[in-house]
Amino acid sequence: MKHLGLVIGAAGMLGTDIVRNFRKLGYTVLSPTRGEIDISNASSLQKFITEYRPQWVINCAAKHDLEFCEKNLNTAIEINANAVNTLAQICAKINSYLIHISTDYVFDGAKGQPYLETDEPNPLNNYGVTKLMGENFVLEKNGNALILRVAALFGSSISRDKGLHCFVDRMRQKLILGEKLTVNKKQNMSPTSTIEIANQLISLVREQPTGIVHCVNNGFTNYYDLTYQIARYLNFTPSRIRTQIIQGETTNWVRRPLNSALENRRLNELNLNSMQDWEIALHEYLKVNTL
Ligand SMILES: NC(=O)c1ccc[n+]([C@@H]2O[C@H](COP(=O)([O-])OP(=O)(O)OC[C@H]3O[C@@H](n4cnc5c(N)ncnc54)[C@H](OP(=O)(O)O)[C@@H]3O)[C@@H](O)[C@H]2O)c1
Repeated sequence: MKHLGLVIGAAGMLGTDIVRNFRKLGYTVLSPTRGEIDISNASSLQKFITEYRPQWVINCAAKHDLEFCEKNLNTAIEINANAVNTLAQICAKINSYLIHISTDYVFDGAKGQPYLETDEPNPLNNYGVTKLMGENFVLEKNGNALILRVAALFGSSISRDKGLHCFVDRMRQKLILGEKLTVNKKQNMSPTSTIEIANQLISLVREQPTGIVHCVNNGFTNYYDLTYQIARYLNFTPSRIRTQIIQGETTNWVRRPLNSALENRRLNELNLNSMQDWEIALHEYLKVNTL
């Protein structure tokens, strides 16, 4: 039997693909529901992990709805930071390798280029602040742990925290229905496939690097050009694209970085980068996952 793994937040957009992929490759993976492990409850976390003693743990559980985090800082701290602190210590005690999923939103967007693992974080909103607190707890409390920063996910499962399909599927649906879309061209990010992260995690669990690693599909774009690419994939004519997709500002009141593109510098240095360019990953996703 290959090593026993545990995925927390297994029912989420990313967790679902991670569990499916490890199992497909013959790994035994525990995927408890929130009812079985509530990470904000230290004794529930301690009891579950010390009972099963997984060799590796991937934590996908988070509060990442930006508006919710702005309005409920204490809950965001509880889930994104304090619970992660406890988890890091429990994993350290039983020498279980921990991969904690984090975010591009730890950066402020002031850098004119994609962010590297060595760049200084400076989050603009409560979500980013609390995720950075979680990162720091992991780095302080567990020397056998990895912070894996991902970004702008697209995947076929619903985002549990937002109760929505991913941006790519929402835009695809609206484009097919002929709706007019107003989309922001001013925010750069690295759109990333959950399936590709799930594949990348196989080599990370095998090699067990520590510290911080960025894990996004290579390259970056903005939400307008991403939507444009989806329309191109749907074989829309240029004039239909121009009529349906309009450039505009975001209507969300929460501050967010205008550039949160990431570069997989460490994955490349480790000779492990299996992430494809974002356009290729997007096309593969749209081809395989029909609405
Ligand atoms: N989505 C993005 O675009 C994006 C971008 C950058 C980084 N990330 C990071 O990627 C990770 C995964 O995101 P996602 O989009 O897959 O999230 P998601 O779909 O909202 O899933 C989050 C999971 O966490 C679980 N959870 C929440 N609170 C919990 C608690 N107290 N105890 C146990 N489980 C709890 C949820 O449980 P239930 O199933 O019971 O709701 C859900 O299964 C997060 O760390 C997020 O910060 C996401």
